[in-house]
Amino acid sequence: MSSKADVIVGIQWGDEGKGRIVDLYAAGYDVIARFGGGDNAGHSIVVGETEVALRIVPSGVLNPAVELFIGGGTVVNPSGLLEEFDRLVALGVDVSRVKLSDRAQLVLPYHAAQDRAAERARGAQALGTTGRGIGPAYIDKVARSGVQAGDLRDPAILREKIRRNLAARAGALAGEEPLSEAEIVEGALQAAERLVPHVVDGVAYIHERLEAGKRVLVEGAQGSLLDVGFGTYPYVTSSHTIAGGACIGLGIGPTAIARVIGVVKAYCTRVGAGPFPSELHGDAAERLRRQGAEFGTVTGRSRRCGWFDAVAGRYAVRLNGLSSAVVTKLDVLSGFERLGIVTGYRLRGQSVGFCAASDPDLEVEIEELPGWAEPIGAVRAISALPAAARRYVERLGELLGVPIELVSVGREREELAR
Ligand code: IMP
Repeated sequence: MSSKADVIVGIQWGDEGKGRIVDLYAAGYDVIARFGGGDNAGHSIVVGETEVALRIVPSGVLNPAVELFIGGGTVVNPSGLLEEFDRLVALGVDVSRVKLSDRAQLVLPYHAAQDRAAERARGAQALGTTGRGIGPAYIDKVARSGVQAGDLRDPAILREKIRRNLAARAGALAGEEPLSEAEIVEGALQAAERLVPHVVDGVAYIHERLEAGKRVLVEGAQGSLLDVGFGTYPYVTSSHTIAGGACIGLGIGPTAIARVIGVVKAYCTRVGAGPFPSELHGDAAERLRRQGAEFGTVTGRSRRCGWFDAVAGRYAVRLNGLSSAVVTKLDVLSGFERLGIVTGYRLRGQSVGFCAASDPDLEVEIEELPGWAEPIGAVRAISALPAAARRYVERLGELLGVPIELVSVGREREELAR
């Protein structure tokens, strides 16, 4: 009997805490698959004293029983992946279980250089990218000139594609140190020696597992509001981060998906530039940043912080066809006397939807709810939360229009209320 996959996606601007939720849910699955993005993602999982920061390896890696798959919709930096392997091996993790689709695109040194040069050229309109070369790697993909993971098997093709790509982008690297073609080729050939055993026919891989009835969990990266088509364009990443991206990024049809679980932080954050209607400034923002340790896993940048935005949330529920939601970091809100939730957007007196998020005249409607003073890290049932915290979670569920199946109340693996 064949099976269907479940998908976990972030429904804000990334950093919702998906890694930790995937780590938790991994126990119920046989395969965890990443479908998009690259090492712009930073998924951290806390186990006791150790914090494991993952970039491209799926977040189920700490569960020894699961297979891990990096799908064809991703962009993979070969040397970054090998460094990640080394860090995991040092922790005693068996990385032979990690398989890489032959269709994944490679991120090579000229992509990061082009990313930096493009950001400089944008000046005041810079997007605030992670500088990892993600956008340029996806540009190569759609320009049909990218290097695929499958090319790692053939040194002659690898050499030739790198030569052509480097020559073609001479003008796009203004202000960057000249890059050595020989060094890039050498680096790719060396990486190939270790990576080729991980490269598989990505379509056969995922379908054989589904056909064998294996339980597959598909892990999204970034958040829905960073989706290249439906996010706050152009302040977005270059891939499809919404649940539909799982089909594109793995080569499966929509009928192969059973459930879509959305991970949503109890408030909002965003790294990099772009619209953020519920953004706070001053003391409240500072407090969220400090209590929530809101600093980027990849770039170390401090994250912009704001109230939960239900307009953005409902928009993301639609984009993803969400079945249910998981609320993360509720504990960060402990100690606030009052909490805000953005429940509406207005433009020149008219009620408007998320599509107006970048309008400079946008005004937000804020509903205030009472806060709670008690720490909640020890609570294990949503029904046992302090009344105000329970009310807050219920309100998020009402506004999103989907059931909330789990709430995280602390950093540790077991700090969860069901
Ligand atoms: P890029 O993906 O590096 O091109 O960056 C584009 C935008 O997406 C920037 O605003 C980044 O800060 C943001 N971004 C990319 N990856 C993540 C992530 O994993 N979490 C949060 N923001 C991200």
